[in-house]
Amino acid sequence: MIKKLAAVILAAGQGTRMKSDLPKVLHAVAGKPMLSHVVQVARSLDAAPIVPVIGPAADLVRTALDCEKLTFALQAEQLGTGHALQCAESSLQGFAGDLLLLCGDVPLLRETTLVALLDHHRKSSASVAILTAQMSDPTGYGRIIRGSNGVERIVEEKDASSAERQVNEINTGIYMFRAPEAFDFLRQLDNSNAQGEYYLTDSVAAARQAGERVEALLIENAEEAMGINDRVQLAQAGEIMRQRINEAHQRGGVTLIDPTATYIEPEVTIGADTLIHPGVHLRGKTTIGSGCEIEPGVVVTDCIIGDGVHLKPGSVLSESTVGDTCAIGPMAHLRPGTVLTGHNKIGNFVETKKAVFGEKSQASHLTYIGDATLGKNVNIGCGTITCNYDGVNKYQTTIEDDVFVGSDTQFVAPVTIGRGSLIGAGSTITKDVPADALAITRAEQKNIAGWAERNRRQQQKKKPVKREK
Ligand code: UD1
Ligand code: CA
Repeated sequence: MIKKLAAVILAAGQGTRMKSDLPKVLHAVAGKPMLSHVVQVARSLDAAPIVPVIGPAADLVRTALDCEKLTFALQAEQLGTGHALQCAESSLQGFAGDLLLLCGDVPLLRETTLVALLDHHRKSSASVAILTAQMSDPTGYGRIIRGSNGVERIVEEKDASSAERQVNEINTGIYMFRAPEAFDFLRQLDNSNAQGEYYLTDSVAAARQAGERVEALLIENAEEAMGINDRVQLAQAGEIMRQRINEAHQRGGVTLIDPTATYIEPEVTIGADTLIHPGVHLRGKTTIGSGCEIEPGVVVTDCIIGDGVHLKPGSVLSESTVGDTCAIGPMAHLRPGTVLTGHNKIGNFVETKKAVFGEKSQASHLTYIGDATLGKNVNIGCGTITCNYDGVNKYQTTIEDDVFVGSDTQFVAPVTIGRGSLIGAGSTITKDVPADALAITRAEQKNIAGWAERNRRQQQKKKPVKREK
């Protein structure tokens, strides 16, 4: 029989030490709100429902995690961790099974650790299983107080005697309970303690008094249980998360020249034999193929990049698709809706937006291509601009296969350029061009013999005479 598992995530605390208008749990670790990391680990265990308990700025949290199908519970007033779990009770009405309790500000916990806690809880038939850690400096944490019959209670730092403060096995704040039983223990809590709060930790003593078993499982790597209270810890957690992500890619065959300076978000995938230089940011749901090279300062967000692609320094790509063996940059800007079919070259200071390039078409220098569809083998000369916007509406430019566009051309859209045609350099194209035609809009050149010479002499005469010293 598959046992049922639900998860509650405490996330209603004020987070005052962040000194932020944003709720603490929405601060990002590796590009994702820390609460999303916690939700993800709960989801990896197939927990259902997943109930985040939220407080201040609840609407902001709901909106930020909207896509994650959660059952939010509200803790209007922050009366302590025990009270917070109580606020989730109505969301778990009718649920009977194991209850995993997580904290929204502990984003580094791994699935394997929680599976071990769940196993331990089930095998030992404990009422409560606490995830604990050995800390060389346990200051600030709740201490695990063991007696002859195992764990007896948890004492908070502020309520602990000096002897109890010597204990360095600490409460990570992560537990397995049984529901609905856990809620019975919560009803017995009071707030007669140093902080005047309803402590969830006191439910351990309540379980023991009821004759129940309480177990503790020591976490192997205490780093995982790190709680984030301020922005120093936020950066530390980011570093640890980044290291995990980067190591996974390295083991998957990706070369990172300097992993400490490579910023890859959790949902990014990268093919083997791709080489990534320092200072690269790969964000969102980006997919990178194999055998690519990504040079310093490249920022890619929500893109699909094929195999053998070369992204040169300083290029910025968003919501775009780049086919195999394209070369982009340096300093190119691919904006949303760019589709490069394959073997395309986009050179320095080229900007594209809602632009489809057929195979082998290229724009090598100083160009803007927006709201445009290009066929195959189109060559866009330096300084070409699609004039796609008249201040009110946007219009399409269509350029068919094998067109050669001379430098410094403007296409005033809407306009269609027929296949195989040639646009003379410096043209402003306002009308459609038939296939295989030459289109040219330059004024005719006039040469005036000797004019420059004469002009120079005249200017010389006007100059004031310099006095000798
Ligand atoms: C808590 C534990 C402590 C443990 C430590 C681990 C208690 C009483 N103490 O202490 O034993 O060592 O975590 O990090 O539980 N929260 C709410 N509503 C509240 C209060 C807190 O949702 O009314 C949430 C917070 O947002 C946070 C979590 O509960 O995610 C822990 O609260 P926090 O105030 O940080 O507890 P600690 O003092 O760190
Ligand atoms: Ca804390």
